[in-house]
Amino acid sequence: MYLTRKEERILNGKEGQITAKALKLLVEMGKNENAEKLVNVDRSHISGVSYKTAGLPMLRLLEDMVEDGVKVVTYATVNPAGMPREGGIGVSREFMQKQKRIISAYEKLGCKMVLTCIPYSTRPPRRGEIVAFAESSAVCYVNSVIGAKTNRHGSLDALAASITGKVPLMGLLLEKNRKPTIKVHSDFTFDSSTEFSLLGLYLGEKLEKNDKPLFSFSKTPNHGELNALGGGLATSGAIGLFHVLGVTPEIKQLSDYDLTTLETITVSKRDFQNFCKKKKTRMENPDIIAMGCPHIPLDRLKKISKKLKGRKLKQSTKLWLFTSKAVLEKAEEDTLASIREAGGKIILDTCPVVAPIGEMNITKVVVNSAKAMSYIPRLSSGVDVSLANIDEIVKRWTMK
Ligand code: F3S
Repeated sequence: MYLTRKEERILNGKEGQITAKALKLLVEMGKNENAEKLVNVDRSHISGVSYKTAGLPMLRLLEDMVEDGVKVVTYATVNPAGMPREGGIGVSREFMQKQKRIISAYEKLGCKMVLTCIPYSTRPPRRGEIVAFAESSAVCYVNSVIGAKTNRHGSLDALAASITGKVPLMGLLLEKNRKPTIKVHSDFTFDSSTEFSLLGLYLGEKLEKNDKPLFSFSKTPNHGELNALGGGLATSGAIGLFHVLGVTPEIKQLSDYDLTTLETITVSKRDFQNFCKKKKTRMENPDIIAMGCPHIPLDRLKKISKKLKGRKLKQSTKLWLFTSKAVLEKAEEDTLASIREAGGKIILDTCPVVAPIGEMNITKVVVNSAKAMSYIPRLSSGVDVSLANIDEIVKRWTMK
């Protein structure tokens, strides 16, 4: 693998042992994939922020980095933490202390503390820009909707890219690996972000690891639906890029590709409905209804607010809407008022998956996302999850 003199110097420890180790990790990744060289990145997104998923080893690593004076050299945003920055959702004192240390360490490294998995909603990467994103749903979105280029990074290699400003030139950064590999055909419409997330989950189970599915929908999905589709695909399959006619920027170059040879996978209404039926078990008296996995973008927040307008949550029902500070700041007062008046609560900086809900006396959760439905039981043992779309939630748990 070709390395510049500067990269060799970094590897030899001239910029500190931690930066050398970080670059070594990226070089090894590149060698495994026969990358010819490293390329520069100015933008990155780091996962592994919640103490629940990062744990003590990550906390120690971050504090060691701070002690060594390490700084990120990219515009590095961070994923949700295990609680809102100010606390307040019932996490234990011990969790809160450790979580605050993680947040403080990322801050001292120079990260932008957006604490969201939709960091592109304020400052999206440029089309064609090479970036280093962790968080699989964000990876799908920046590749497929924005048209920037990133591989599916994990928390450590995204951190390594953030402090070195380098990634190996491989995988989804190469044009040849970004072409559609399979067409998806369906002759019915998907009309909620929940259904799009289920479609992603359904297909992720059927597609190959490196597949790049090509969708053609009769109605162009909105941002929230595209977000949900990517979240579902990345949950059950290792998908980092999908194409949607009319949406994906690279689709314009599709005339260069020979689509006629692509295999087609058909999603029949009956199979999809059966799949959904199995996933959507009914739950009585949930402790919380949690919406916002991935975090709710502005268009979805408006839609949810409209559905809640003039309604009230039934007694003892809690509705938590997870989004980013940037979305909250852009939301109009009307949007927020309908949510508040219905009894809903907007929660920032965290999400239902990475918050330690199992330790917060929460055992029954209704979600509207296939990703949350899959991950909550894996990460919070003893918590039961049920899936419902926004209309079902409004119908069952609110009243006029
Ligand atoms: Fe985002 Fe948490 Fe879901 S980080 S994609 S809301 S699991």
